[in-house]
Amino acid sequence: MVHKAEFLPSTGNSISSILQGGYNHPLSREWQQERQLTKNMFIFPLFISDMPDDETDIPSLPNIKRFGVNKLVPYVDSLVKKGLRAVILFGVPLKEGVKDSVGTAADDPEGPVITSIKLLREKFPDLFIMCDVCLCEYTDHGHCGILNEDGSLNREPSVRRIAAVAVNYAKAGAHSVAPSDMMDGRIKDIKTGLMDAGLAHKCLVMSYAAKFSGNLYGPFRDAAGSAPSHGDRKAYQLPPAGAGLARRALLRDIEEGADAIMVKPSTFYLDIVSDASKLCGDYPLCAYHVSGEYAMLHAAAEKGVVDLKGIAFEAHQGLVRAGARLIISYFTPEFLEWLDI
Ligand code: PBG
Ligand code: ZN
Repeated sequence: MVHKAEFLPSTGNSISSILQGGYNHPLSREWQQERQLTKNMFIFPLFISDMPDDETDIPSLPNIKRFGVNKLVPYVDSLVKKGLRAVILFGVPLKEGVKDSVGTAADDPEGPVITSIKLLREKFPDLFIMCDVCLCEYTDHGHCGILNEDGSLNREPSVRRIAAVAVNYAKAGAHSVAPSDMMDGRIKDIKTGLMDAGLAHKCLVMSYAAKFSGNLYGPFRDAAGSAPSHGDRKAYQLPPAGAGLARRALLRDIEEGADAIMVKPSTFYLDIVSDASKLCGDYPLCAYHVSGEYAMLHAAAEKGVVDLKGIAFEAHQGLVRAGARLIISYFTPEFLEWLDI
């Protein structure tokens, strides 16, 4: 058939070949996007320690600080004024001797998370307050659940403890609890716990449903002091190549009562984001642009390999294009500057 080509008009003259007229103006380029990044889809992670006057840079996370409760309000205020709508809280116990085998400090009524929930609710009535729910920041072994004597995870007490922590965050006023521990069955126990506490109608359960184990959480573990003291998290976080397992985990967590779902990390898992948006299209889908992704883009920009603003837009637009409706991102403060709405 190749010889027939000479009788056809050249590609350049064919009407349907000419696309460039459709995007030669900045506005017509914007019109090419099916959905656009907006401020209301950004959720900003806050690291809050038990040292009230703490305000410490985190070397592996450029521009991100860990705050004590006394330093939180002015910082959050500056972001709310720029259009910040949602935060996710991570507690960081620094005091000697507070970590134990069951993560007692996670829901200490005087601890950083519960104190901050109340403070932020009072000072910023329109801000949506989410809480990451996990034990790894608070356990002496640094794992996300409670361990058996042989070091393996003991599922039932883990799930009970995680559900209790989630309910206590909801009682303190959290608008959403987001369990990141990856224990089987915790969504069901959390939802049941919220129902029993009469809070299920007030608290959104966002499941870190498709959370993969990998190489991108290092800077977070520096910030939160939550690296496991032995072993790794491969027995509970998903294997990076396991797309089918991720789809099963997404469906399982919906079945157990999740109100929203998450894929994490994000950029290397766009196929999973896309799968999740199709499989769970009736649910808000969040992508977590994690600490390692953030640190990598900063490192590449420092090396002159990429322009930071350009690459940040490209990365986050990729998430929205793949189907994410919400994004947890350390770039949130920058996007509040860069976006108009
Ligand atoms: C706690 C938790 C982690 C992250 C969110 N919640 C770390 C981990 O699982 O080890 C990672 C977030 C990031 O890297 O930005 N389970
Ligand atoms: Zn954890």
